[in-house]
Amino acid sequence: MRKVTVNASLTYDVLIDKGNLDLTGKLCAKVVSPCRAAILTDSNVAPIYAERVERSLASAGFSPIRFVIDAGEQSKSADSYLAFVTFLAQNRVTRSDCIIALGGGVVGDLAGFCAATYLRGIRFVQIPTTLLAMVDSSVGGKTAIDIPEGKNLVGAFYQPSLVICDIEVLSTLPENIFADGCAEVIKYGIIGDRVLFDKLKKPMGDQIEDIIESCVRNKRDIVNLDECDTGMRQLLNLGHTPAHSIETLSHFTISHGSAVAMGMALMARASLAMGFLQKDECDEITSLIERYSLPTKCPYNASELASIALTDKKRAGGQISLIIPYSIGDSRICKTSVDELEHIFALGQGVDA
Ligand code: NAD
Ligand code: GLY
Repeated sequence: MRKVTVNASLTYDVLIDKGNLDLTGKLCAKVVSPCRAAILTDSNVAPIYAERVERSLASAGFSPIRFVIDAGEQSKSADSYLAFVTFLAQNRVTRSDCIIALGGGVVGDLAGFCAATYLRGIRFVQIPTTLLAMVDSSVGGKTAIDIPEGKNLVGAFYQPSLVICDIEVLSTLPENIFADGCAEVIKYGIIGDRVLFDKLKKPMGDQIEDIIESCVRNKRDIVNLDECDTGMRQLLNLGHTPAHSIETLSHFTISHGSAVAMGMALMARASLAMGFLQKDECDEITSLIERYSLPTKCPYNASELASIALTDKKRAGGQISLIIPYSIGDSRICKTSVDELEHIFALGQGVDA
């Protein structure tokens, strides 16, 4: 069993292995005394995995109860939030009980926000079932729901008590959802891990546990230093500023992973044009992205991308933090004036605006 320990406002382990679902009860019992365990899961994950998790929890003395949301981003909503906390209250879930998030980032973010706010905070365990959730959303304590005005606009920093990754669940993931997670994996390589980046040039296959562990270690190192996202945690947003614009402009028909892939390629080309990134490394980045069947060219122009980005919640006053890859494994936060943004995006599109 691989173990990565996060030392944020709460210290907790991320456990990575094959077959961990059947150990859920035993592993949870090490951090939470047997209690009522309210499982939040979605309509795709529940039929495949919920019973195994419930059986394991019951055999360790927990009393599992289950709440299932419809699969998909639309469930990361105020309605689902209210429905789940109502379920918790009706089942008399108390502060000595816990919530278990069994699913991808949607379930994890929603369960985490419910855990942060129900009874002013109860413990929760993340069991991520997508690659993205294993390497990113289950670790670091960002929890949120969406409102019609934007994604993740209502949330809290609230750390889980434990993260349990079972690599075997990735075998049932649809290919496009796996590819979305690959974009975030590549991101860690470009931000700060040249060794990981090079590993990704070989098929993931047998290396998958190793790769997930590297990503979690990279995220852990950042979260330990900047849990509340006031500084270096912003590095995790490499490619995400253009990606959010791309997702919005496409009315979310372009997936998050594809948008991040386009965004990272765009920032790499912009960095090359600004004289930071070398041409061979820029080509390495775009080839690696393409190797994972992810796109590197964005269908929107710089002015469209900039206009959406300027409404981004990460904007502070007249400035926006852009993450620029200087070399593979060395990305930097650059405070950019709102006026410069379109020009930088245009450079990334190969246009001199
Ligand atoms: P998701 O949770 O919607 O899961 C994607 C799809 O895969 C869903 O249809 C789901 O039912 C299905 N699925 C999940 N596990 C499966 C499995 N093992 N087998 C078969 N199907 C399975 O999407 P996601 O990509 O995991 O997460 C995206 C969400 O994560 C977004 O809401 C995003 O904002 C959030 N996010 C949060 C953070 C954070 O730090 N909190 C970081 C990145 C992304
Ligand atoms: N996924 C970005 C973060 O956790 O900060």
